[in-house]
Amino acid sequence: MNPGAIKSVKRPADYKPYQGSAAGLQAYGEKLYKDPKLSTNGLSCETCHQGGNLFQASFAKPFPHEVDMAKNQFGMSQVFLDEMVQICMVAPMAAKALDWQSKELAALVVYTASLQTDFKPNARSANPCAAKNPCAAKNPCAAKNPCAAKNPGAAK
Ligand code: HEC
Repeated sequence: MNPGAIKSVKRPADYKPYQGSAAGLQAYGEKLYKDPKLSTNGLSCETCHQGGNLFQASFAKPFPHEVDMAKNQFGMSQVFLDEMVQICMVAPMAAKALDWQSKELAALVVYTASLQTDFKPNARSANPCAAKNPCAAKNPCAAKNPCAAKNPGAAK
């Protein structure tokens, strides 16, 4: 990952998140989460994360926490949720980080926080994709998500 991309996913010093109504941000975040226009490769967040797919056990812990992708590709030992959203924008979505002050980032943070509340890592132990990260090295998920079709732990 180039230094510019790495810097772009780290909270800026003067970070003041966009403030809005929780319900409004939740609805907007859900819409964005399903919108492939956010990426440059035809993927939406939902393409990879449908039914909790590809979230590792770390997602169940309060933020900030360690996430393999953040550590391996960005050299970050811990991430906040907003930084993780930016990391998925830059790496798997092959796009630019969102403006830190933007409504888009705030909306995705509110929506992914709601997914975290529902997330149960243990329910997914039967998921063959859960153990290792298929997107870590190169990105085999770019075309389509090999784990999406049949994830026994996904239904809720
Ligand atoms: C190509 C597949 C892919 C796409 C598209 C993708 N992600 Fe991810 N995402 C991953 C993978 C793989 C992980 C697991 C990283 C790890 O644990 O090392 C992950 C992890 C996460 C996590 C949880 C990190 C943790 O453990 O706390 C969040 C939150 C997240 N993604 C949000 C998003 C959002 C928001 C989008 C859309 C902007 C998105 N992702 C798009 C592959 C993807």
